[in-house]
Amino acid sequence: MVEEVETNSINVIDLEDLPSVGPAIAEKLREAGFSTIEAIAVASPAELSAAAEIGETTATKIIAAARRLANVGGFESGDKVLERRKRIGKITTGSKALDELLGGGVETQSITELFGEFGSGKTQICHQLAVNVQLPCDAGGLEGSVIVIDTENTFRPERIMQMAEAKGLDAEEVLRNIYVAQAYNSNHQMLLVDNAKELANKLKREGKHVKLLIVDSLMAHFRAEYVGRGTLADRQQKLNRHLHDLMRFGEIFNAAIVVTNQVQAKPDTFFGDPTRPVGGHIVAHTATFRVYLRKSKGELRVARLIDSPHLPEGEAVFRVTERGIEDK
Ligand code: GTP
Ligand code: MG
Repeated sequence: MVEEVETNSINVIDLEDLPSVGPAIAEKLREAGFSTIEAIAVASPAELSAAAEIGETTATKIIAAARRLANVGGFESGDKVLERRKRIGKITTGSKALDELLGGGVETQSITELFGEFGSGKTQICHQLAVNVQLPCDAGGLEGSVIVIDTENTFRPERIMQMAEAKGLDAEEVLRNIYVAQAYNSNHQMLLVDNAKELANKLKREGKHVKLLIVDSLMAHFRAEYVGRGTLADRQQKLNRHLHDLMRFGEIFNAAIVVTNQVQAKPDTFFGDPTRPVGGHIVAHTATFRVYLRKSKGELRVARLIDSPHLPEGEAVFRVTERGIEDK
């Protein structure tokens, strides 16, 4: 069973849990963009006082409380880290070989980056995980809900239904547990992570736990919007923040974060690594698991784990069939 014991220092807290914050003030804060405890924790008393129309003394008190609750210092004692890590869950991909490559499945509290060229199976794996995370724990799932940030409009409910039925699940029910938002540009994509936090909080109160957050694709907007070398630093900075927000979501909700990243195979390149994804170094350093996917014959696909510090290098062959992701 997935234990939801709140032994963690990064519990999920509502704005209303802060001292002096009632529904009216909470509403004003949210409207002004202070939608999370973290956002309040790093605000200045003057900002908060203006946003919520409260005195600076009260604002200072609220910020202090938010800081205590949000752990914005970023420090956690070792025993807390251990406690949090004990709760890590794993989601089956549908292929034993691929699960083994990943050390047992896609992990919560981590970012898993699926990268590869078009048609290599990135979106298919995302769909399959959105189904599988809903399976009972003894069947490789986490009995969890899913949030999808879809940037290329490639989410297909029909495909989800097909995969759900193949697993003997109620397809309609499975769809009801998947919350999808389209991201129109990179700023919107980043904003949707905040919205995802709010949604996950709301669902949590209803007894539903978001255990998987998908961003498919992570890089498409960033790549399109930031062309040319001059803007590369800006892009990396924003991307860095985005990835940290995602990581934080994974830690707060004990959820798996899965992002996709398209790479163009460059047969004309003799030097350099053809498996280098578009995001460059920042994605490489933040993603905990980086899986390079490539097409093989017909339905076959090959996955390779790239520079993972704690798992052996190797490859896994799987198939994308009508039923979904399967062993070869
Ligand atoms: P881009 O988003 O374009 O970068 O590609 P991707 O890596 O996300 O590819 P995706 O996961 O969409 O893979 C598409 C491939 O999955 C298709 O070329 C098919 O081979 C396979 N596929 C998708 N749907 C089905 C299906 O219903 N049945 C079968 N057998 N294969 C499918
Ligand atoms: Mg895709």
